[in-house]
Amino acid sequence: MEVRLQKAIAAAGVASRRKAEELIRQGRVTINGRVATEMGLKVDPVHDHVKVDGSHLKPAAPKAYVMLNKPGGVLTTLEGPGEEGRLTVRQFLRGIKPRVVPVGRLDYDTEGLLLLTNDGALAQRLLHPRYHVPKTYLVKVSGVLDDAQIRTLESGVRLEDGLTRPAQVRKVRKTEENSWIELTISEGRTHQVKRMLQAVGHPVLKLKRLRFGPLKLGNLPIGEYRFLTDPEIHRLKTVAAKSSPSIPSPSPSRVRVGGRLAS
Ligand code: URA
Repeated sequence: MEVRLQKAIAAAGVASRRKAEELIRQGRVTINGRVATEMGLKVDPVHDHVKVDGSHLKPAAPKAYVMLNKPGGVLTTLEGPGEEGRLTVRQFLRGIKPRVVPVGRLDYDTEGLLLLTNDGALAQRLLHPRYHVPKTYLVKVSGVLDDAQIRTLESGVRLEDGLTRPAQVRKVRKTEENSWIELTISEGRTHQVKRMLQAVGHPVLKLKRLRFGPLKLGNLPIGEYRFLTDPEIHRLKTVAAKSSPSIPSPSPSRVRVGGRLAS
């Protein structure tokens, strides 16, 4: 498939698109042995020989999108094994060739849906605070939440880093000692769910992420992964594209992919 020359250079990880245009203008790019200084030329990265400063472009790795049902007691990092021999998600990703990285982070003891991808641009958009991608958690808390506490969760909880955005709560069940709720938040602050529930007086006992944007964990067994289907990838990209016109491109220094950013 033909793509613009600057896009092919950027996809190969040599330079940003803007920098690639500079390289072209400076006559440092050749296509099949000929210097290409014209903007807007198209190449087929598989068949054309594109070189920058005399070196061949490496073909771009195919994009991969993976959903893991992360077990509790596993660190969201690709290093591994973690501190004190703790398990990391890397141990659960055997057989995936492209180097996919976690989109955000789940706490060590949190289970559930973790998205991993090598599509850095999509990951940055999904994590950008201004996109407000909704995430739904099944939360088991100590004690029984009353209606006033649920209203507080829904309208906004004052945490040390400010008021949380409105959340949705669905009561699932309760016993005399514990309650289970589904909580949907649209931010990604560190330990946010645990801090929200702590603030209303009900410490979290168990946490599982059920949904991330349009993705549903469904019945994926714990500790297993699967590749996303094409419609799922399409829906994910639609979410990330939706509010884009008013949003500046996320700066890598503010959004960490697979870093210490809980969501
Ligand atoms: N909120 C938390 O408190 N922990 C997580 O792992 C995810 C969201």
